[in-house]
Amino acid sequence: MQPIVTPFHHSATGTWSYVVADPATQEAAIIDPVLDYDWKAGCTGTTAPDRIVEHCRAAGLKLRWILETHAHADHLSSAQYLKGVLGGDVAIGQGIRSVQRTFKKIFGLGPEFQPDGSQFDRLLDDDTTLPLGAGSIHVIPTPGHTNDSVSFLVGDAVFVGDTLFMPDSGSARCDFPGGDAAELYRSVQRLYSLPAGTRMFVCHDYMPGGRAAVCETTVEEQRSANIHIRDGVDEAAFVRMRKERDATLDVPSLIIPSVQVNIRAGRLPAAEADGISYLRVPVNVFGRPKS
Ligand SMILES: [Fe+2]
Repeated sequence: MQPIVTPFHHSATGTWSYVVADPATQEAAIIDPVLDYDWKAGCTGTTAPDRIVEHCRAAGLKLRWILETHAHADHLSSAQYLKGVLGGDVAIGQGIRSVQRTFKKIFGLGPEFQPDGSQFDRLLDDDTTLPLGAGSIHVIPTPGHTNDSVSFLVGDAVFVGDTLFMPDSGSARCDFPGGDAAELYRSVQRLYSLPAGTRMFVCHDYMPGGRAAVCETTVEEQRSANIHIRDGVDEAAFVRMRKERDATLDVPSLIIPSVQVNIRAGRLPAAEADGISYLRVPVNVFGRPKS
C-alpha cells in the first residue's frame, strides 16, 4: 500500500503533523497533531488543527486514528479537539504509563491523575498492527528520545516522531527523564533495517542554515548522510556525541504546559470550582536556578 501523506508544518514549534490516508477506502489517521498555545497569555488556539479538519473534510476522509509518536515536550497535542470534531480513537505507545508515573511526580499531581494510560482510547503494544482501510499501521517501538516513543509504518512510509530529524539535522535529544542515547541508537538501527526506499517522515524540522522546512527523506538517505547516525557510526561514538550535545541544549519553551496536557491525551487539567483549568509550574525543577 502506498498511502497518501499530507504534511502540516507548525512554524511556532517547528513540528510536522501528518494525515495518512488509504487511497482505496479514504480511511485516514492523523499523526502528532498540534494545539496552538500562547504561553504568555495561557491561551490555547485551534488554527493548526483546523487546517487538518479542513483538509480531511475537503478530501472526504474518514478518520479512524489519532496517533501520537510519544508524549511531546515541545508542543501541546490537539488529539482531543480533533477527536471531538472528526471522531477517531486516540492511541499512543504503552510506554506512556512510565512517562505518566515520572511526570506525575515531577508535577506533584494528586490521585485524580492515574498513571495507567486510561486517558487514551488505546495503548499500543510493541509491534502491534492497527487496521487502516485496506492496509495497516505497524507499531515499531523506537525508545530513546523518550521511553514511550514509537514509529508508525504504513505501507512504504514510516513516521519516526522524534527519533531522527532530516539528514542535515541529525537525531533527537535523549536527556529528558526516561531518555537513553544507547537505546535511541538501537531504535535507529531498527529503522535502518527497513527497505532502503522506505519514505521517512520526521516530526520536526528547524530549518538549519535558513533553508525551507522539509519533512520527507528515505531510509537510504539517512543511512548514508545523517550527520549524527549513519552507517559506520558505532553506538559508543553516538552516545558520546549525544551526551555532549544534550548538555548544551536549552529546556524546550513549552515543556511545562505540553507535558501536563499530553500525558492527559491532549486534555487540559479538569476545571476547578471556578470553572477554570490550571496548569502547575514546578519551580527550579526543569533547568537550574540562576545565581
Ligand atoms: Fe519529542
